[in-house]
Amino acid sequence: MAINAPRGTKDITSSDSYKWNYVENKFKELCKLYGYEEIRTPIFENTELFQRGVGDTTDIVQKEMYTFTDRGERNLTLKPEGTAGVVRAFIEHKMFADAQPTKLFYITPCFRYERPQSGRQRQFHQFGVEAIGSDSPSLDAEAISLAMQFLNELGLKDLSVSINSVGCPVCREPYNKLLKEYLESKSDLLCDLCNERREKNPMRVIDCKVETCQENIKDIPLIADHLCPDCQEHFDNLKKYLDEMEIKYTVDKKIVRGLDYYKRTAFEIISNDLGAQSTVCGGGRYDGLVEQIGGPKGYSGVGFAIGAERLLLTLEANDIEIENDNKIDIYVVTIGELAKTKSFSILKELRENHISADKDHLDRSLKAQFKYANKIKSKYTVVIGDDEINNDEVNLKNMEDSQQKTIKLSQLVDELKSLL
Ligand code: HAM
Repeated sequence: MAINAPRGTKDITSSDSYKWNYVENKFKELCKLYGYEEIRTPIFENTELFQRGVGDTTDIVQKEMYTFTDRGERNLTLKPEGTAGVVRAFIEHKMFADAQPTKLFYITPCFRYERPQSGRQRQFHQFGVEAIGSDSPSLDAEAISLAMQFLNELGLKDLSVSINSVGCPVCREPYNKLLKEYLESKSDLLCDLCNERREKNPMRVIDCKVETCQENIKDIPLIADHLCPDCQEHFDNLKKYLDEMEIKYTVDKKIVRGLDYYKRTAFEIISNDLGAQSTVCGGGRYDGLVEQIGGPKGYSGVGFAIGAERLLLTLEANDIEIENDNKIDIYVVTIGELAKTKSFSILKELRENHISADKDHLDRSLKAQFKYANKIKSKYTVVIGDDEINNDEVNLKNMEDSQQKTIKLSQLVDELKSLL
Protein backbone atom coordinates (compact mmCIF):
# COMPACT_ATOMS: atom_id res chain seq x y z
CA MET A 1 0.00 0.00 0.00
CA ALA A 2 1.19 3.52 -0.77
CA ILE A 3 2.31 5.64 2.14
CA ASN A 4 0.81 9.11 2.38
CA ALA A 5 2.04 12.23 4.18
CA PRO A 6 0.93 12.26 7.85
CA ARG A 7 -2.47 13.83 8.65
CA GLY A 8 -2.23 17.60 8.97
CA THR A 9 0.93 17.91 6.87
CA LYS A 10 1.27 18.98 3.25
CA ASP A 11 3.91 18.63 0.59
CA ILE A 12 4.86 21.88 -1.04
CA THR A 13 5.35 20.71 -4.60
CA SER A 14 6.73 22.65 -7.54
CA SER A 15 3.25 23.91 -8.39
CA ASP A 16 3.40 25.92 -5.15
CA SER A 17 7.04 26.20 -4.09
CA TYR A 18 7.63 29.24 -6.32
CA LYS A 19 4.89 31.04 -4.37
CA TRP A 20 6.60 30.15 -1.10
CA ASN A 21 9.91 31.44 -2.45
CA TYR A 22 8.26 34.67 -3.47
CA VAL A 23 6.61 35.37 -0.10
CA GLU A 24 9.69 34.26 1.82
CA ASN A 25 11.94 36.56 -0.18
CA LYS A 26 9.49 39.40 0.24
CA PHE A 27 9.43 38.84 3.99
CA LYS A 28 13.25 38.79 4.16
CA GLU A 29 13.41 41.97 2.10
CA LEU A 30 10.95 43.76 4.40
CA CYS A 31 12.69 42.56 7.58
CA LYS A 32 15.95 43.92 6.23
CA LEU A 33 14.28 47.28 5.57
CA TYR A 34 13.30 47.42 9.23
CA GLY A 35 16.72 46.33 10.50
CA TYR A 36 15.88 42.74 11.49
CA GLU A 37 18.45 39.96 11.03
CA GLU A 38 17.74 36.29 10.49
CA ILE A 39 17.95 33.67 13.22
CA ARG A 40 17.50 29.93 12.76
CA THR A 41 16.86 27.89 15.87
CA PRO A 42 16.44 24.09 16.13
CA ILE A 43 13.21 22.38 15.16
CA PHE A 44 13.12 20.68 18.56
CA GLU A 45 13.89 22.05 21.99
CA ASN A 46 13.84 20.74 25.53
CA THR A 47 10.16 20.39 26.44
CA GLU A 48 10.69 22.50 29.54
CA LEU A 49 11.33 25.55 27.38
CA PHE A 50 7.76 25.55 26.10
CA GLN A 51 6.29 24.57 29.46
CA ARG A 52 7.97 27.57 31.04
CA GLY A 53 7.82 29.88 28.05
CA VAL A 54 4.47 29.30 26.35
CA GLY A 55 2.86 28.34 29.67
CA ASP A 56 1.70 25.18 31.40
CA THR A 57 -1.97 26.10 31.31
CA THR A 58 -2.18 26.90 27.60
CA ASP A 59 -3.90 24.62 25.08
CA ILE A 60 -0.62 24.42 23.18
CA VAL A 61 1.31 22.92 26.10
CA GLN A 62 -1.55 20.86 27.49
CA LYS A 63 -2.90 19.34 24.31
CA GLU A 64 -1.04 20.24 21.17
CA MET A 65 2.66 19.54 21.50
CA TYR A 66 4.58 16.86 19.66
CA THR A 67 6.63 15.64 22.60
CA PHE A 68 8.91 12.62 22.59
CA THR A 69 11.77 11.02 24.44
CA ASP A 70 14.92 10.49 22.41
CA ARG A 71 17.29 7.55 22.69
CA GLY A 72 19.19 9.40 25.41
CA GLU A 73 16.00 9.73 27.49
CA ARG A 74 15.79 13.49 26.85
CA ASN A 75 12.34 15.00 26.85
CA LEU A 76 12.06 16.98 23.62
CA THR A 77 9.30 18.82 21.76
CA LEU A 78 8.93 19.92 18.15
CA LYS A 79 8.54 23.69 18.33
CA PRO A 80 4.88 24.72 18.45
CA GLU A 81 5.83 28.37 17.83
CA GLY A 82 8.93 30.46 17.20
CA THR A 83 9.25 32.91 20.09
CA ALA A 84 10.44 30.62 22.91
CA GLY A 85 13.37 29.25 20.86
CA VAL A 86 14.47 32.73 19.81
CA VAL A 87 14.37 33.98 23.40
CA ARG A 88 16.33 30.91 24.52
CA ALA A 89 18.96 31.66 21.87
CA PHE A 90 19.02 35.33 22.92
CA ILE A 91 19.98 34.20 26.43
CA GLU A 92 22.29 31.35 25.41
CA HIS A 93 24.35 33.54 23.08
CA LYS A 94 24.38 36.44 25.53
CA MET A 95 22.88 38.74 22.93
CA PHE A 96 21.84 40.95 25.85
CA ALA A 97 25.47 42.02 26.11
CA ASP A 98 25.22 43.68 22.66
CA ALA A 99 23.71 47.08 21.93
CA GLN A 100 19.93 46.77 22.23
CA PRO A 101 17.40 46.16 20.85
CA THR A 102 18.13 42.78 19.27
CA LYS A 103 15.93 42.56 16.19
CA LEU A 104 15.55 39.08 14.75
CA PHE A 105 13.36 37.40 12.17
CA TYR A 106 12.73 33.77 11.26
CA ILE A 107 10.92 31.52 8.87
CA THR A 108 10.23 28.20 10.50
CA PRO A 109 8.02 25.13 10.46
CA CYS A 110 5.95 24.71 13.63
CA PHE A 111 4.04 21.73 14.96
CA ARG A 112 0.74 21.62 16.80
CA TYR A 113 -1.52 18.63 17.27
CA GLU A 114 -4.73 20.35 16.20
CA ARG A 115 -7.70 19.15 14.18
CA PRO A 116 -6.68 19.86 10.60
CA GLN A 117 -8.86 22.02 8.40
CA SER A 118 -8.30 24.66 5.76
CA GLY A 119 -5.67 27.03 7.15
CA ARG A 120 -4.99 24.81 10.12
CA GLN A 121 -2.33 22.12 9.92
CA ARG A 122 -0.23 20.02 12.25
CA GLN A 123 2.94 21.11 10.53
CA PHE A 124 2.61 24.72 9.45
CA HIS A 125 5.03 27.58 8.91
CA GLN A 126 5.52 30.91 10.59
CA PHE A 127 7.17 34.09 9.39
CA GLY A 128 8.07 35.87 12.60
CA VAL A 129 10.00 38.72 14.12
CA GLU A 130 11.16 39.32 17.67
CA ALA A 131 12.59 42.60 18.97
CA ILE A 132 14.14 42.09 22.38
CA GLY A 133 15.78 44.56 24.74
CA SER A 134 13.41 47.51 25.01
CA ASP A 135 10.04 48.00 26.64
CA SER A 136 9.23 51.00 24.49
CA PRO A 137 5.93 50.83 22.58
CA SER A 138 7.85 52.14 19.58
CA LEU A 139 8.94 48.56 18.86
CA ASP A 140 5.34 47.37 19.11
CA ALA A 141 4.30 50.02 16.60
CA GLU A 142 7.21 49.10 14.35
CA ALA A 143 6.33 45.39 14.43
CA ILE A 144 2.72 46.14 13.43
CA SER A 145 3.96 48.47 10.71
CA LEU A 146 6.32 45.80 9.35
CA ALA A 147 3.60 43.16 9.27
CA MET A 148 1.20 45.53 7.53
CA GLN A 149 3.74 46.71 4.95
CA PHE A 150 4.59 43.08 4.17
CA LEU A 151 0.93 42.10 3.74
CA ASN A 152 0.12 45.25 1.77
CA GLU A 153 3.07 44.81 -0.57
CA LEU A 154 1.84 41.31 -1.33
CA GLY A 155 -1.34 42.99 -2.52
CA LEU A 156 -3.61 42.43 0.50
CA LYS A 157 -5.83 45.36 1.30
CA ASP A 158 -8.82 43.90 3.14
CA LEU A 159 -7.13 43.56 6.52
CA SER A 160 -8.06 44.64 10.04
CA VAL A 161 -5.59 45.32 12.80
CA SER A 162 -6.97 44.70 16.29
CA ILE A 163 -4.97 45.75 19.30
CA ASN A 164 -5.37 45.41 23.03
CA SER A 165 -3.39 45.72 26.22
CA VAL A 166 -3.42 42.67 28.46
CA GLY A 167 -1.68 44.53 31.29
CA CYS A 168 1.28 43.61 33.44
CA PRO A 169 1.66 41.84 36.81
CA VAL A 170 0.89 45.13 38.59
CA CYS A 171 -2.57 45.56 37.06
CA ARG A 172 -3.20 41.83 36.64
CA GLU A 173 -3.16 41.10 40.36
CA PRO A 174 -6.19 43.20 41.36
CA TYR A 175 -7.84 42.49 37.99
CA ASN A 176 -7.50 38.72 38.37
CA LYS A 177 -9.07 38.95 41.79
CA LEU A 178 -12.01 40.87 40.35
CA LEU A 179 -12.24 38.45 37.42
CA LYS A 180 -12.17 35.36 39.62
CA GLU A 181 -14.93 36.80 41.80
CA TYR A 182 -17.00 37.55 38.73
CA LEU A 183 -16.46 34.08 37.29
CA GLU A 184 -17.24 32.41 40.56
CA SER A 185 -20.60 34.13 40.56
CA LYS A 186 -21.18 32.68 37.09
CA SER A 187 -19.74 29.22 37.72
CA ASP A 188 -23.09 27.43 37.24
CA LEU A 189 -23.45 28.97 33.81
CA LEU A 190 -19.98 28.17 32.47
CA CYS A 191 -18.72 25.14 30.53
CA ASP A 192 -16.36 22.66 32.21
CA LEU A 193 -13.31 24.08 30.49
CA CYS A 194 -14.13 27.61 31.63
CA ASN A 195 -14.60 26.38 35.17
CA GLU A 196 -11.24 24.70 34.95
CA ARG A 197 -9.61 27.87 33.61
CA ARG A 198 -11.38 30.07 36.12
CA GLU A 199 -8.75 29.30 38.74
CA LYS A 200 -5.60 28.70 36.74
CA ASN A 201 -5.83 31.10 33.83
CA PRO A 202 -9.04 33.14 34.21
CA MET A 203 -8.39 35.52 31.30
CA ARG A 204 -8.68 32.63 28.86
CA VAL A 205 -12.37 32.33 29.72
CA ILE A 206 -12.90 35.46 27.64
CA ASP A 207 -11.76 33.46 24.62
CA CYS A 208 -14.21 30.55 25.13
CA LYS A 209 -15.81 29.43 21.88
CA VAL A 210 -18.96 28.05 23.56
CA GLU A 211 -21.88 30.31 22.66
CA THR A 212 -23.73 30.01 25.98
CA CYS A 213 -20.56 30.96 27.88
CA GLN A 214 -20.24 34.06 25.73
CA GLU A 215 -23.90 34.89 26.36
CA ASN A 216 -23.44 34.55 30.09
CA ILE A 217 -20.27 36.60 30.42
CA LYS A 218 -21.33 39.61 28.39
CA ASP A 219 -20.44 41.97 31.24
CA ILE A 220 -17.17 40.26 32.16
CA PRO A 221 -14.57 42.74 33.42
CA LEU A 222 -11.87 43.31 30.80
CA ILE A 223 -8.24 44.05 31.65
CA ALA A 224 -8.10 46.99 29.23
CA ASP A 225 -10.51 48.80 31.56
CA HIS A 226 -8.32 48.08 34.57
CA LEU A 227 -4.82 48.97 33.41
CA CYS A 228 -2.28 50.45 35.78
CA PRO A 229 -1.06 53.96 34.83
CA ASP A 230 2.16 52.62 33.23
CA CYS A 231 0.32 50.12 31.04
CA GLN A 232 -2.26 52.75 30.09
CA GLU A 233 0.52 55.14 29.04
CA HIS A 234 2.24 52.37 27.10
CA PHE A 235 -0.98 51.57 25.26
CA ASP A 236 -1.76 55.24 24.59
CA ASN A 237 1.71 55.72 23.12
CA LEU A 238 1.32 52.68 20.89
CA LYS A 239 -1.92 54.16 19.53
CA LYS A 240 -0.25 57.54 19.04
CA TYR A 241 2.58 55.96 17.00
CA LEU A 242 0.13 53.95 14.89
CA ASP A 243 -1.91 57.10 14.27
CA GLU A 244 1.26 58.90 13.22
CA MET A 245 1.89 56.18 10.59
CA GLU A 246 -1.78 56.27 9.58
CA ILE A 247 -2.16 52.59 10.36
CA LYS A 248 -5.84 51.96 10.99
CA TYR A 249 -6.70 49.72 13.95
CA THR A 250 -9.53 48.89 16.27
CA VAL A 251 -9.14 48.34 19.98
CA ASP A 252 -10.56 44.92 20.74
CA LYS A 253 -10.61 44.58 24.49
CA LYS A 254 -11.44 40.89 24.17
CA ILE A 255 -8.14 39.85 22.60
CA VAL A 256 -6.34 37.67 25.14
CA ARG A 257 -4.32 35.35 22.85
CA GLY A 258 -3.51 31.73 23.52
CA LEU A 259 0.01 32.03 24.90
CA ASP A 260 0.78 32.91 28.50
CA TYR A 261 3.76 35.14 27.90
CA TYR A 262 1.91 38.21 26.68
CA LYS A 263 2.12 41.41 28.72
CA ARG A 264 0.73 44.75 27.64
CA THR A 265 0.36 44.81 23.84
CA ALA A 266 -1.50 41.99 22.11
CA PHE A 267 -2.53 42.28 18.48
CA GLU A 268 -3.96 40.35 15.60
CA ILE A 269 -4.24 41.01 11.91
CA ILE A 270 -7.34 39.51 10.38
CA SER A 271 -8.02 38.92 6.74
CA ASN A 272 -11.66 39.64 6.11
CA ASP A 273 -12.15 36.81 3.66
CA LEU A 274 -10.75 33.66 5.19
CA GLY A 275 -13.66 32.61 7.36
CA ALA A 276 -12.96 30.67 10.52
CA GLN A 277 -9.16 30.68 10.24
CA SER A 278 -8.90 34.36 9.47
CA THR A 279 -6.11 35.37 11.85
CA VAL A 280 -3.16 35.69 9.53
CA CYS A 281 -0.87 37.35 12.06
CA GLY A 282 -0.72 37.25 15.84
CA GLY A 283 1.69 38.99 18.12
CA GLY A 284 2.39 41.03 21.16
CA ARG A 285 4.74 41.97 23.93
CA TYR A 286 6.32 39.47 26.31
CA ASP A 287 8.03 41.44 29.05
CA GLY A 288 9.33 39.00 31.64
CA LEU A 289 9.77 36.02 29.29
CA VAL A 290 13.58 36.34 29.10
CA GLU A 291 13.76 36.16 32.88
CA GLN A 292 11.18 33.40 33.05
CA ILE A 293 13.34 31.09 30.98
CA GLY A 294 16.50 31.81 32.89
CA GLY A 295 17.83 35.03 31.37
CA PRO A 296 18.72 38.33 33.01
CA LYS A 297 16.11 40.78 34.26
CA GLY A 298 14.97 43.80 32.31
CA TYR A 299 14.92 42.47 28.74
CA SER A 300 11.45 42.96 27.35
CA GLY A 301 10.42 41.81 23.91
CA VAL A 302 7.75 42.14 21.27
CA GLY A 303 7.05 40.30 18.05
CA PHE A 304 4.57 38.60 15.80
CA ALA A 305 4.15 35.54 13.64
CA ILE A 306 2.32 35.25 10.35
CA GLY A 307 0.98 31.83 9.39
CA ALA A 308 2.41 31.14 5.94
CA GLU A 309 -0.32 28.70 4.88
CA ARG A 310 -3.02 31.16 5.89
CA LEU A 311 -1.19 33.92 4.10
CA LEU A 312 -1.10 31.93 0.85
CA LEU A 313 -4.79 31.03 1.21
CA THR A 314 -5.58 34.72 1.72
CA LEU A 315 -3.65 35.65 -1.40
CA GLU A 316 -5.62 33.03 -3.33
CA ALA A 317 -8.95 34.23 -1.91
CA ASN A 318 -8.02 37.73 -3.12
CA ASP A 319 -7.13 36.47 -6.61
CA ILE A 320 -3.55 37.68 -6.13
CA GLU A 321 -1.41 35.67 -8.48
CA ILE A 322 2.28 35.11 -8.02
CA GLU A 323 4.16 34.70 -11.25
CA ASN A 324 6.19 31.55 -11.67
CA ASP A 325 9.52 32.90 -12.86
CA ASN A 326 11.17 29.49 -12.91
CA LYS A 327 11.02 29.43 -16.70
CA ILE A 328 14.10 28.02 -18.40
CA ASP A 329 15.91 30.53 -20.64
CA ILE A 330 16.80 28.05 -23.35
CA TYR A 331 16.12 24.46 -24.25
CA VAL A 332 18.77 22.83 -26.44
CA VAL A 333 17.14 20.49 -28.98
CA THR A 334 19.52 17.92 -30.44
CA ILE A 335 19.46 15.73 -33.55
CA GLY A 336 21.88 12.81 -33.65
CA GLU A 337 24.70 11.45 -31.50
CA LEU A 338 27.29 14.17 -32.29
CA ALA A 339 24.87 16.93 -31.21
CA LYS A 340 23.84 14.95 -28.14
CA THR A 341 27.46 14.91 -26.96
CA LYS A 342 28.14 18.49 -28.06
CA SER A 343 25.11 19.68 -26.07
CA PHE A 344 26.97 18.95 -22.82
CA SER A 345 29.64 21.60 -23.48
CA ILE A 346 26.99 24.02 -24.77
CA LEU A 347 24.88 23.61 -21.63
CA LYS A 348 27.92 23.87 -19.40
CA GLU A 349 28.91 27.18 -20.98
CA LEU A 350 25.35 28.54 -20.82
CA ARG A 351 24.96 27.64 -17.17
CA GLU A 352 28.40 29.01 -16.29
CA ASN A 353 27.15 32.27 -17.74
CA HIS A 354 24.04 32.01 -15.56
CA ILE A 355 21.70 31.39 -18.45
CA SER A 356 19.29 28.69 -17.33
CA ALA A 357 19.32 25.85 -19.79
CA ASP A 358 18.06 22.32 -20.20
CA LYS A 359 18.22 19.50 -22.71
CA ASP A 360 16.60 16.17 -23.46
CA HIS A 361 17.46 13.29 -21.14
CA LEU A 362 15.03 10.73 -22.55
CA ASP A 363 16.15 10.28 -26.18
CA ARG A 364 12.99 12.03 -27.40
CA SER A 365 12.20 12.66 -31.04
CA LEU A 366 12.65 16.18 -32.46
CA LYS A 367 8.91 16.83 -32.21
CA ALA A 368 8.73 15.52 -28.65
CA GLN A 369 11.69 17.69 -27.64
CA PHE A 370 9.83 20.81 -28.88
CA LYS A 371 6.69 19.69 -27.12
CA TYR A 372 8.64 19.31 -23.88
CA ALA A 373 10.33 22.72 -24.36
CA ASN A 374 6.83 24.19 -24.63
CA LYS A 375 5.62 22.35 -21.56
CA ILE A 376 8.43 23.68 -19.39
CA LYS A 377 7.82 27.15 -20.88
CA SER A 378 11.36 27.59 -22.15
CA LYS A 379 11.85 31.13 -23.45
CA TYR A 380 14.09 30.06 -26.36
CA THR A 381 15.04 26.89 -28.16
CA VAL A 382 18.00 26.14 -30.35
CA VAL A 383 18.26 23.11 -32.67
CA ILE A 384 21.64 21.44 -33.06
CA GLY A 385 22.51 18.69 -35.54
CA ASP A 386 25.60 17.66 -37.52
CA ASP A 387 25.22 20.53 -40.05
CA GLU A 388 24.82 23.17 -37.36
CA ILE A 389 27.97 21.98 -35.63
CA ASN A 390 29.99 21.80 -38.85
CA ASN A 391 28.82 25.20 -40.14
CA ASP A 392 28.78 26.96 -36.76
CA GLU A 393 25.26 28.13 -37.54
CA VAL A 394 22.08 27.57 -35.52
CA ASN A 395 18.46 28.64 -35.47
CA LEU A 396 17.49 30.42 -32.29
CA LYS A 397 13.74 30.41 -31.77
CA ASN A 398 11.80 32.69 -29.47
CA MET A 399 9.09 30.40 -28.11
CA GLU A 400 6.75 33.25 -27.19
CA ASP A 401 6.44 34.89 -30.63
CA SER A 402 7.92 32.02 -32.74
CA GLN A 403 10.44 34.43 -34.32
CA GLN A 404 13.58 32.67 -35.55
CA LYS A 405 17.05 33.99 -36.06
CA THR A 406 20.15 32.37 -37.54
CA ILE A 407 23.22 32.95 -35.41
CA LYS A 408 26.67 31.48 -34.93
CA LEU A 409 26.68 28.59 -32.45
CA SER A 410 29.89 30.00 -30.97
CA GLN A 411 27.99 33.27 -30.34
CA LEU A 412 25.03 31.64 -28.57
CA VAL A 413 25.91 32.88 -25.09
CA ASP A 414 26.55 36.48 -26.19
CA GLU A 415 23.40 36.51 -28.28
CA LEU A 416 21.25 35.27 -25.39
CA LYS A 417 22.87 37.70 -22.98
CA SER A 418 21.73 40.55 -25.20
CA LEU A 419 18.23 39.09 -25.54
CA LEU A 420 17.42 38.09 -21.96
P1 HAM B 1 0.02 32.34 17.40
O1 HAM B 1 -1.13 33.29 17.34
O2 HAM B 1 -0.14 31.11 18.20
O3 HAM B 1 1.26 33.18 17.90
O4 HAM B 1 0.43 31.92 15.93
C1 HAM B 1 0.72 32.90 14.95
C2 HAM B 1 0.07 32.57 13.64
O5 HAM B 1 0.46 31.25 13.23
C3 HAM B 1 -1.44 32.50 13.67
O6 HAM B 1 -1.99 33.78 13.54
C4 HAM B 1 -1.73 31.65 12.44
O7 HAM B 1 -1.69 32.43 11.27
C5 HAM B 1 -0.58 30.69 12.44
N1 HAM B 1 -0.98 29.38 12.99
C6 HAM B 1 -1.09 29.02 14.29
N2 HAM B 1 -1.46 27.73 14.40
C7 HAM B 1 -1.61 27.26 13.14
C8 HAM B 1 -1.97 25.99 12.58
N3 HAM B 1 -2.25 24.93 13.33
N4 HAM B 1 -2.02 25.88 11.22
C9 HAM B 1 -1.72 26.94 10.43
N5 HAM B 1 -1.37 28.15 10.91
C10 HAM B 1 -1.32 28.32 12.24
C11 HAM B 1 2.50 32.67 18.06
O8 HAM B 1 2.86 31.60 17.69
C12 HAM B 1 3.45 33.67 18.68
N6 HAM B 1 4.76 33.02 18.83
C13 HAM B 1 3.56 34.94 17.85
C14 HAM B 1 4.49 35.93 18.46
C15 HAM B 1 5.76 36.17 18.10
N7 HAM B 1 4.22 36.69 19.50
C16 HAM B 1 5.29 37.43 19.79
N8 HAM B 1 6.24 37.10 18.94
